[in-house]
Amino acid sequence: MIKSSRSKPCFITFEGIDGCGKSTQALLVYRDLTKRGFSVAMFREPGSTNLSEKIRSILLNEKNTISDITELLLYQAARSELTAREIRPELAKGNIVLCDRYYDSTTAYQGYGRGLDLKAVRTLNRIATKGLTPDLTLLFDIDLKTAISRRKKKKDRLESESKSFFVKVRKGFQEIARKERRRIKVVDATQPVENVFLDVKKIISRKLKIDVSS
Ligand code: TMP
Repeated sequence: MIKSSRSKPCFITFEGIDGCGKSTQALLVYRDLTKRGFSVAMFREPGSTNLSEKIRSILLNEKNTISDITELLLYQAARSELTAREIRPELAKGNIVLCDRYYDSTTAYQGYGRGLDLKAVRTLNRIATKGLTPDLTLLFDIDLKTAISRRKKKKDRLESESKSFFVKVRKGFQEIARKERRRIKVVDATQPVENVFLDVKKIISRKLKIDVSS
């Protein structure tokens, strides 16, 4: 976890397919808000607690064969730890919480991607988070070709999935965003990093009711 000081609580999540650039944007937002004097905590999913990082290495190790339901439950176990132990306490302190992925990833990857029952996935999302919904979610939408060109060479277990899997995941994210227009804002992630960040700053400034134009 990265932490820094002064603000009102707000929970912001960053979503999109692998290679969409969300982690870079999350870090830029963290640095920008910190510089402006906000108290910000940043986490990643799966991960950011001892146990959740262990689960992350199991999930991402390309040598592991994991059945779909086990995968779903492991992501939820990692999430339940992070939400209870870190995210909720940070929000209770009045801090801004940034999270690189959250339950929309499970809906998109395990629900739409793996084809697991969407209703069951959503129920487990609610159980794992005890109903904690982000105040704002940024969806970094990108075509598969550009996303693949941006990924690192060494692939983890999920990144080794087929193109058709990621097509389903991307469509899943788009559908989730269509259903929750108030919470989820779609950003064109095919643009250069600086332009993406300008869009991100506009959305966040509206949410936090601050001027971040400088
Ligand atoms: P990351 O590389 O963005 O940190 O995410 C780890 C991988 O795990 C990524 O391929 C997306 C995948 N994932 C799921 O399949 N379901 C989930 O619930 C989460 C949080 C991530």
